[in-house]
Amino acid sequence: MANRMTVNYMEKPCYDIVFTTDFSLLKDEISGLGFKGRKIAIITDTNVEKLYSKEIENSLSGEYDTVVTYAIPAGEEHKNLQEIEKIYEFLMERHFDRHDLLIALGGGVVGDMTGFVAATYLRGVSFVQIPTTLLSQTDSSIGGKTGVDLGGVKNMVGAFYMPRLVYMNISTLNSLDDRQYASGFAEVMKHGLIKDENFYTWLIDNMYEINDKDPDVVLEMVMHSCDIKRVVVEKDPTEKADRMLLNFGHTLGHAIEKHKNFKMFHGECVALGAIAAAFISWKRGLLSMEEYYEIRDMFVPFNLPISVEDIDKEAVLNLTKSDKKSDSDKIKFVLLKKIGKAFVDDTVTRDEMEKALDEIIYIENND
Ligand code: GLY
Repeated sequence: MANRMTVNYMEKPCYDIVFTTDFSLLKDEISGLGFKGRKIAIITDTNVEKLYSKEIENSLSGEYDTVVTYAIPAGEEHKNLQEIEKIYEFLMERHFDRHDLLIALGGGVVGDMTGFVAATYLRGVSFVQIPTTLLSQTDSSIGGKTGVDLGGVKNMVGAFYMPRLVYMNISTLNSLDDRQYASGFAEVMKHGLIKDENFYTWLIDNMYEINDKDPDVVLEMVMHSCDIKRVVVEKDPTEKADRMLLNFGHTLGHAIEKHKNFKMFHGECVALGAIAAAFISWKRGLLSMEEYYEIRDMFVPFNLPISVEDIDKEAVLNLTKSDKKSDSDKIKFVLLKKIGKAFVDDTVTRDEMEKALDEIIYIENND
């Protein structure tokens, strides 16, 4: 028996998120979408393909004209328009039309790219998300953001395009290594920090179970994290206001990620960016010193970095300007009023960001 949650779009039910522990319900869930006799393309990456694509292909066989798999080379460096073109060609060669279905099987990169293909191929085909990482289950598969990187800027080209279904098999998290799992956890922590102090406290109280991937605790964590995101994206699907809060930790986080040539994981950079944002919030008198140090130190038991080496501060600061979250020359920075309450501020200065970078670069020396 699966848990489910419906996500509204424009105040109407749009798609369900199914939370379960295997793929046994997938066939019926897809069947319920009404694509009998049509073609299905599972878009995945070369890592995830080896783990699950055969199982999913087999479970869907019989009811559809064809079920085929296309694997993108794994890695953020392949999240580009050249790879998108290859997917279009794959679909064209197999005569996919507007009535067929795409399935995104994998992490955030696969979900964003498949969603972008779905939004644009023949001006829009249906797609399903099967997120297999903690980051994609708790964040990127919900809310319809799709896209690719361009010119070194993350998600520079994209579209808001809603999936028909998000199917989460929580047991796929067991295939993640500790670093990938921790990286996804940064987004979970972010949801608590920006919207829900009780959830933040619950995460800390359950840190051992979370790190051990206790199935019941992980299920509760993923569902609660998705519910926070659901409320935000329902209220502001196209990021005019509240959805910007989800960018907490991302202004400096994205800049560090790019500066490090994507060698650090996204969530690791978000953790550093969140610490920097909390530092600025403290220095502005919004958070107490105790709150700041608690936020910073709570990333440690979840195996996330609180400091970073080999950073050229000027280069990172310059990269914040090319982040697409900036509005003309003003950066929309997300700060904390308190744990569980974030707000957008466009007055954060270069000097404040520089001091925040000093804090995360030299943190060990400062103690
Ligand atoms: N990952 C942030 C958002 O979906 O808006």
